[in-house]
Amino acid sequence: MENNKPLVIGHRGAMGHETENTIASIEKAMELDVDMIEIDVFKIKSGEIVVFHDDSVERLTDGKGEIESYTLAELKALTVEGGHKIPTLQEVLDVMGGKTQLNIELKGRNTATDVNRMIEADVKAGKWKLNDIIISSFEWDELRDIRKLNSDVRIAILIEEDPLDALEVGKELNAEAINPSFKKLTAENNLKIKEAGFKIYPWTVNEPQDILHMKRFGVDGIITNYPERVN
Ligand code: G3P
Ligand code: CA
Repeated sequence: MENNKPLVIGHRGAMGHETENTIASIEKAMELDVDMIEIDVFKIKSGEIVVFHDDSVERLTDGKGEIESYTLAELKALTVEGGHKIPTLQEVLDVMGGKTQLNIELKGRNTATDVNRMIEADVKAGKWKLNDIIISSFEWDELRDIRKLNSDVRIAILIEEDPLDALEVGKELNAEAINPSFKKLTAENNLKIKEAGFKIYPWTVNEPQDILHMKRFGVDGIITNYPERVN
């Protein structure tokens, strides 16, 4: 039997439809009426936070090298697959305007201070509610850094292997959720995570039979490249 409807979380925007982590992908996810959008962020050489998935710009752009070694002017000169530009986090915050929840995945190093400053500024300006933003990372020290700066921000613990290994840090950081690979979620660990009081937002669930499987587990949200398949 299916439990309550999980949140539909667009992965890197709606990357099944538009180039990942671009404004077009964010807009597509909003058009598909997602509940939340997941994006990845890095801090670059000139100090800005930009929205991009890989350490290196090579897979998705006409440039070469590590994204963290670029200035914003240099990055903006690159073309992303499909004719797009790499957006800054501020551009994404502005485009979304607090209308849809946002999951910011801290991918790079030293992102916590700037990401926290930006979200606090937008909350203060009335553009966003803090409750509509959740911060996740596989780099748990980045999450520790942001928790030190902000006792209220929602946190999700990303984990690639056994999801139960995230419970301890989840408690330490007063996290809302454990975000496991859907392939590692079992009937047994799903129950244990719930009993420990955490929500579960598995990634990246694209095939209809896997989406149904996660719904049967009663997960709280589904991170997917194809938001229309979850509804
Ligand atoms: O946040 C879930 C998912 O995005 C984690 O993996 O590699 O797609 O960033 P990845
Ligand atoms: Ca991600």
